[in-house]
Amino acid sequence: MDKLKLGVLISGRGSNLQALIDACAAADYPAEIVLVVSNRPDAMGLERAQAAGIATRIIEHTNYGDRESFDRDVDAALRDAGAQLICLAGFMRLLSRWFVEEWPDRIVNIHPSLLPAFKGTDSHAQALATGVKLTGCTVHFVRSEMDAGPIIMQAAVPVLPGDTEDSLAARVLTAEHQCYPTAIRLIAEGRVTVEDNRAINTDGNMAARPLYNPPAD
Ligand code: GAR
Repeated sequence: MDKLKLGVLISGRGSNLQALIDACAAADYPAEIVLVVSNRPDAMGLERAQAAGIATRIIEHTNYGDRESFDRDVDAALRDAGAQLICLAGFMRLLSRWFVEEWPDRIVNIHPSLLPAFKGTDSHAQALATGVKLTGCTVHFVRSEMDAGPIIMQAAVPVLPGDTEDSLAARVLTAEHQCYPTAIRLIAEGRVTVEDNRAINTDGNMAARPLYNPPAD
């Protein structure tokens, strides 16, 4: 079996990277990580990659005068490594239109809300302020607009009375760590196609029951 070669872009903690590293450790997982790129030299995710024996590159955006020249170096590093799919895992930089068009439906992102709700960097604060009873996470193909693109997989997570941003983020993060490896597996197995800017999942095993919060009578 030829494994799908992943390039993972990070900016920080790297817990979603770790979830992918752990998934890739299974012999029957259909993807492998060939490179981790960080735009920050102090990203903890770099240590996670190194501990797993994965090649790393630090490409600091602060060394570049414009977004596209940074993106061109990231693109070159990914191509040199043979990456076939780019996974954004807490990568806190917007990618240029040029970069996104270089990798059509070959860039995925994980975002901590049920998109299209609560885009941006303060999703949990937005969820708490709005009073939604369900939030969650979304894995989607990347477009040049922020937190937009065909949705591959979502998990709904309850918002509980007394939640803080931290408690909600921790609950959603647990779901992120399940979703990201699953979504990448679906892509690697050829079970996700994009039609009319929507991702179609050909997995036959979909959950049909609603999730209630608070519980229904
Ligand atoms: C995750 O919650 C991820 O969904 C979020 O940043 C966190 C990174 O954590 N990404 C975004 O908000 C992108 N818009 P990690 O570094 O531990 O994976």
